[in-house]
Formats: sequence, C-alpha cells, structure tokens
Amino acid sequence: MPRDRFEREIDYLRISLTDHCNLRCVYCMPLTEVSYAPPDTALTPEEIERIVTAATDIGFRKVRLTGGEPTLRPDLVDIVKRVARVPGIQDVAMTTNGILLSRMAVTLKRAGLNRVNIHVDTMNPERLSRLMRWGKLADIQRGIDAAIDAGLTPLKLNCVVTKGFNEEDVVDMARLTVEHDWHVRFIELMPLGGGECAKVSVERYVSNVDTKRRIEEALGPLELLTPTNPSDESKNFRLASAAGVVGFISPVSEPYCGSCNRMRLTSDGRFHLCLLKDDEVDVLAAVRRGADRAELGAILLRAVASKPTGHTLADGRSTLDRSMHHLGG
Ligand code: 5AD
Ligand code: SF4
Repeated sequence: MPRDRFEREIDYLRISLTDHCNLRCVYCMPLTEVSYAPPDTALTPEEIERIVTAATDIGFRKVRLTGGEPTLRPDLVDIVKRVARVPGIQDVAMTTNGILLSRMAVTLKRAGLNRVNIHVDTMNPERLSRLMRWGKLADIQRGIDAAIDAGLTPLKLNCVVTKGFNEEDVVDMARLTVEHDWHVRFIELMPLGGGECAKVSVERYVSNVDTKRRIEEALGPLELLTPTNPSDESKNFRLASAAGVVGFISPVSEPYCGSCNRMRLTSDGRFHLCLLKDDEVDVLAAVRRGADRAELGAILLRAVASKPTGHTLADGRSTLDRSMHHLGG
C-alpha cells in the first residue's frame, strides 16, 4: 500500500466525475459566475479505468465517485462498470444529492456500485429548498427509497449544518437513526475557493460540538462507537437502542488529517493532494499521450509522496483555485 511522507497509508481514490451540479447549495455553488473546467478536459470512462487500474497496481483499494453531481454524467453506468471490474478494487461508492438516483439505482447496483452517500441537509421541505437551492425534498426522498430498494447500503446521509438554515433540524435528522439502520452524518462547513461560498461557509459555520450538544439535549446521550475503520473521517455514535449511527465529520473543530487515507482526482485530470489546499499533480497530459499503467502509477506515487501533512484552516488559509463542486468533498 502506498505510504506518504508521514507514514499514512493512502489507498482511497475519490474521483470527481464532473464539476457541474443540478443544485446550487448556498455554501457550495454560487448562482452566477460558476467556474467550470473546459469540457474537453473531462476524463472519459476509458481514461478513468486506466487511472484506476494504475492505482490498484500500487495498492489503492477503494474508489468513490463524486462531483459536482456524478449522476449528471450520461456515461455514469459505463464508468461504474469499468471501475468495479478493475482487479483489486474492493469498494465502489458514490456521493450524490439523490435527485436523479431513483431512475438509475438498480442499474448502478448491477453495474457494480456498492453503496451511496446521499446529501440531504434537512427533512423540512421548505428549508431544504432554501439551503439546497433548486432541490426538492420529495425527489431526494425518492432517491433514498430507491437506494435502499436497490441495496446500495449501508446508506449514509450527509447533512451540512448551516447557521440560520438547518441548525435546528439536526435533531430530526438524528432521530431518523432510531428506526432506520442508516448513518446520518453531520458535516462542518469548510471554506473553499475564496469566493462567495467560502464567505458563507465561514459566516454560517456551526461547530459539531454544538450540533452534538443540541442532539443530546433533545434525544438523550450518544454512545461513542469503537471505530471499525481507522481512516473513517466520521466519529460515530449511537442513540439508545437506535438502529442506525449518528456521525460527526469535524474537519474544523477536530481535524483528522493524521489519519487521512485519500487521494482525489478532479474531473479535469489532476490529482488533488489535500481537500483544503490547491496543490495538484497533473495526470491528464500523461493519460492523453498514451502513458502506460506503470507511468500512471509512478505519477500517482509522486502525488502521494507530495501530500501535505494537513490543512491550514486554523491560519485562515484554504483553497483559492478549487471550490467544493470541483472536488466533491
Ligand atoms: N463545507 C462542507 N461540506 C460541503 N459539501 C459541499 N460544500 C461543502 C462545504 N462548504 C458537502 C456536500 C456533499 C459533499 C460532497 O460535500 O454536502 O455531501
Ligand atoms: Fe451540488 Fe453537492 Fe454542491 Fe449541493 S453540495 S451544489 S448538491 S455539488
């Protein structure tokens, strides 16, 4: 397994399939002047398969497809098939807003997708449409139902807690785990891209310390679960006799850089070394001139070796070139 300079084992590749999205969450995409990569830079299914094959050669084992919104790719099923059949890949997951999921969940499962994380910030339809602009709760709900029916499980729901929008809805979100064996995870806002959304993410930030307190005041104590995966960025808890799990992803109040196991690939073919930094290693040029898997593997090893030790949010520094919709979390 590839190790970086800090002895972290990096075996998880998160692939952004597009920087476009059918929603405009207030902390992620502005309504105007969105910056997109040129369309001809988008990695093709065949190119993605070559990169994933090279990644498994050097020890990568897990892949997540993300965006923007990955279900906007008309060739998504082909991509899933190609990635899932690469020998050595043990897990293929996808992060989606769920809007388009109901019509493709079964096909994606058959193609080799194991599970999905669905982004849903509140179970209140009006507040959801305010926060996840253009999003309708009923559509996401259909996506959730379809994911369960298709066996894209364990189902994880991602809730980005945003002051003035949904910070009180975390109780209803957490309550879902009493009956359902889902993971409901609360994510702290991170400022990326230096623009309007970065500003919103700072101004609307809610610490998971407060979110956890709010949930416990309403629903009782959360029992800490022993981590089964040391690289899980989510600190997991359970409500008394609940079927599911309540998780807290706290990059700001409790950074987990020390156990980072990730490499990211942008939709325009760059290895992005740390979510919250701009450092990248180009792989598109090599792929397009026909580099073989050994060469692609060497580029990825170089990217792993260049991973920074951790983010610098505490010093007020984050990305400027890339926003969340280019990187997909
Ligand atoms: N801070 C934290 N999480 C974010 N996401 C999008 N923008 C932000 C932000 N500024 C989340 C989405 C999705 C994942 C890909 O990233 O909710 O679940
Ligand atoms: Fe789209 Fe996800 Fe960004 Fe919302 S957070 S705008 S659903 S990419």
